[in-house]
Amino acid sequence: MVEPAKDGRGREPTPDPLAGRVTEIAAAMRSNRIIEVAREAVAAKARDPSICNLTIGDFDPESFRIPAELREGIVRALEEGHTNYPPPDGIPELKAAVAGFYRRELGLDVADEAVCICSGARPAIYATWRTFVRPGDRTVSFRPAWNVGYYAHMNQSDHRFVATRAEHDFFPTVEEVRRHLRGARLVVLNSPLNPTGTVVKREVLAGIAEALVEENLRRGWDPDGGGRGREPPCILLYDQVYWMLRGQWIEHFNPAVLVPECAPWVVHVDAISKCFAATGLRVGWAVVPPAVLAPFAALIGHMGAWAPRAEQVATARFLSSPELVRDTMVRMSEEVGARLVTLYEGIQSMRRRGLPVDAIPPQGAIHLSFRVDLIGRGFDTNEQIRRWLLREAGLAVVPFQAFDMPEESGWLRMSVGTVRLAELGPALERLEAALRRHLDGLGTGARSG
Ligand SMILES: Cc1ncc(COP(=O)(O)O)c(C=O)c1O
Repeated sequence: MVEPAKDGRGREPTPDPLAGRVTEIAAAMRSNRIIEVAREAVAAKARDPSICNLTIGDFDPESFRIPAELREGIVRALEEGHTNYPPPDGIPELKAAVAGFYRRELGLDVADEAVCICSGARPAIYATWRTFVRPGDRTVSFRPAWNVGYYAHMNQSDHRFVATRAEHDFFPTVEEVRRHLRGARLVVLNSPLNPTGTVVKREVLAGIAEALVEENLRRGWDPDGGGRGREPPCILLYDQVYWMLRGQWIEHFNPAVLVPECAPWVVHVDAISKCFAATGLRVGWAVVPPAVLAPFAALIGHMGAWAPRAEQVATARFLSSPELVRDTMVRMSEEVGARLVTLYEGIQSMRRRGLPVDAIPPQGAIHLSFRVDLIGRGFDTNEQIRRWLLREAGLAVVPFQAFDMPEESGWLRMSVGTVRLAELGPALERLEAALRRHLDGLGTGARSG
């Protein structure tokens, strides 16, 4: 009889309750680390209301309400009887409104038929992977970034995470992208970037778009995306779900605007979730090469991942009003920006006073890259720093490990959608006091893990 393997301490291993019952993909699925960290923060805040919860990428509806016109539009659409299945690619009015909105605000030449509406950005991301990636195909993304590992796992791709550097705002260089395009089927890029709150620079995005065109021409595809290549084309999934949330002087770029020749190989993903504080409404879309709309929409339809019809009707009306959209962009960006700038300036002022912290200037999204430079000084891991910040400073943040970045370098994400501006001053004071206590303790050899 074969002895069951024992673990390092001589105990029987705990049997996996899922073994043999579910697929390997399902058995290996992990829940989102951000949500686990956020749950801990919510529980801590229930015990101590002074905790400043900067974990979850969502909005507190008291501070960030969806635009009144959107809310009223949904109620009106329900009263008008828009309560049935929508078409799998979305109602024509919303497809046309998204195309018009992109032409007007981004200068992106989008045909109505290229737009597929779905229930937020996630189904659009999943359908992009399902449409283009076969098991074993090479896929590429840059870390830190949000959730790409889960999509790679669900699609069983041969995924490469490419490291980036803080001095490049955590974006890759054109050279780094170029090196990984050979053989890649899908490259995933997000800007403004979750978790860093940084925005890809014009020259970097243009360089990536040019490299994409070169690679697909090399594979034998026609410049207009037609013809028959020797190998499948490389697709760029450009996730711009935060593009309307950014600093006043920060520009947002689109690969297909900078380099129109790359358009046949780009999928744009977007949603109203973040920019209109409407994460629970579930309206998003993909702009896909028109030739793939039919299978793409069929995937969305079979998953039942269409956006609710009343929300689609209201979003179409809302996006068709340039003033309402611009006012909302300005209001949201100002409210988010005030919080990010308060945190950034507080951290920089501590840094100037010699404390071991740093932050990257906020550019877009609802996030700030925050560094506690204490690895090797009482801490070995970012996770230890996270727990210490929660305990000693009442500050709940998410380590970059939750975004597939393995380096224990003290980088953490602050997310500001669920905090009030007034909470930040006291939180920064507690942070400073905790840092000083820690440094004093180090002088006496204490460890804080
Ligand atoms: C970069 C990025 N893309 C997509 C999403 C998901 O958006 P949605 O809620 O519309 O599915 C998120 C959510 O946090 C995100 O950070």
